[in-house]
Amino acid sequence: MSSELLHLAGVNKRFGGLVVLNDVTFGVSPGEILGLVGSNGSGKTTTINLISGMYRADAGSIVFDGHSINRLPMFRRARLGINRTFQVPKVFRDMTVRENIEVAAHFGRAHEADVDAILADVDLTGNADKLAGSLTVNQQKQLDLGRALATNPKLLLVDEIGAGLNPAELGAIAALLQKLAARGIALIVVEHLLDFLNRITERVIVLGAGRMLFQGSLAQASHDPEVVAAFIGG
Ligand SMILES: Nc1ncnc2c1ncn2[C@@H]1O[C@H](COP(=O)(O)OP(=O)(O)O)[C@@H](O)[C@H]1O
Ligand SMILES: [Mg+2]
Repeated sequence: MSSELLHLAGVNKRFGGLVVLNDVTFGVSPGEILGLVGSNGSGKTTTINLISGMYRADAGSIVFDGHSINRLPMFRRARLGINRTFQVPKVFRDMTVRENIEVAAHFGRAHEADVDAILADVDLTGNADKLAGSLTVNQQKQLDLGRALATNPKLLLVDEIGAGLNPAELGAIAALLQKLAARGIALIVVEHLLDFLNRITERVIVLGAGRMLFQGSLAQASHDPEVVAAFIGG
């Protein structure tokens, strides 16, 4: 589809003899939040790693914004506008919150980062001058998201940001992700918390053992025999 920002076609990934992704094909459009679900080990983080450039696909194509990106290193993809958060947040612990965001701003698409606006977006204004290492894990997740935003992404990959958050924190993150989509950012959100995902997505992809089992709304997914079997089975 020509309106898509990102398109994967026939993507395969092996680690040694283990086939981790097999014939994965999907796209995401600007302003869309696409959910990515599946049991542990189904290949969700690997999908994010292939898009962000931590790993290369063994077969298939990944096209982003008109560029074939599968051979580009991670920093080139970041400059094109792809960034991600981590399942375990990675922040510079000995720098302040503000410095973390300022540093990240140098690694993405060229722009003037509005650091104060980003701090407000991720609800860290009051902690701007604290060392990142002194933040709670949840605040580090917010900072990790803020660092990704500082690169001015067109596509944001969010890996299990909801785990461990209380309902109020989940509500705040859901609202923020929707605000980012409303700005035109495309998001791929990996998440186990299906209520959370149901609030923010119209379409999800279900992975099972590296294969796409389903593509559609979460409500439809819950009636799909293959999806139900995969979840009950594993
Ligand atoms: N760097 C790696 N080397 C070897 N195996 C890996 C590597 N990364 C992931 N895997 C394997 O790939 C499979 C999918 O992992 P992953 O994408 O992290 O799953 P998910 O995020 O869905 O839980 C698992 O079997 C995992 O052990
Ligand atoms: Mg994972």
